[in-house]
Amino acid sequence: MEGVGVRFGRLSALDGVDLKLRPNSVTGLIGPNGAGKTTAVNVLTGFQKPTSGKIFLGSQELTGHTPEEFARQGVTRSFQSGRLFSKLSVIDNVASAAIGIRRLGRTKAREHAYGILEWIGCADVASAFAGTLPHGVQQRVGLARAIAGFPSFILLDEPAAGLGRTDCDGLIALIQKIPSKFECGVLLIEHNMTVIMNACSSIVVFAGGRRIAEGTPAEVAHDAEVRRAYLGSANEQTMAI
Ligand SMILES: Nc1ncnc2c1ncn2[C@@H]1O[C@H](COP(=O)(O)OP(=O)(O)OP(=O)(O)O)[C@@H](O)[C@H]1O
Ligand SMILES: [Mg+2]
Repeated sequence: MEGVGVRFGRLSALDGVDLKLRPNSVTGLIGPNGAGKTTAVNVLTGFQKPTSGKIFLGSQELTGHTPEEFARQGVTRSFQSGRLFSKLSVIDNVASAAIGIRRLGRTKAREHAYGILEWIGCADVASAFAGTLPHGVQQRVGLARAIAGFPSFILLDEPAAGLGRTDCDGLIALIQKIPSKFECGVLLIEHNMTVIMNACSSIVVFAGGRRIAEGTPAEVAHDAEVRRAYLGSANEQTMAI
């Protein structure tokens, strides 16, 4: 995205932000609470129209397009709370994304969905109602849904939020494999610095609606402005790596 601004009344959630995602790698997006991270994901997936600036996928402009159009062009996302269809089976939750986005027939879509569920470790619950599953499994199924539309970029807003240590480690290990397995770039928002530093090849830092730093994990960890942005905030401890 180029020069993107998002205003909510007098509040500037994003202020002239440039952000470029690399294909086939995991980019981390970090920043204190209210930095504009979720707003950026919303803008980059069509859920929020920017007040100013432009969104491109390659050379194609997608500014102002709907979430469905973003998904069809190859940009999908997961949600913090899973947002599954609770009364549909797990496999139909995943298959419906392939049907909706890629117009696969039902049989092909279910085959495709089952393959992803196997990869993600949820094949054993394929026929369970999604609403009955523990939070950690729902998060994985949400990720499977995002993968099912054959995206070239997946945007993940705190996918490990609320997970215990083991579930979190397992999910992050899978996320790291997405670029090579599905030829897909990933944007990962995550508050746990250890996770971000280990999982990402590059990291972008937002504070107060602006991009304040970008670089390798080591560069970002030692950036004076990044450390200042975290000092005094609720995230101070998580920045202490
Ligand atoms: N729909 C909205 N209406 C009004 N203000 C909003 C709206 N969405 C976000 N904001 C405000 O915009 C700013 C950026 O919010 P955003 O959710 O993007 O931050 P974030 O970096 O994702 O924070 P967190 O780490 O807490 O998830 C915040 O001040 C937030 O209160
Ligand atoms: Mg957020």
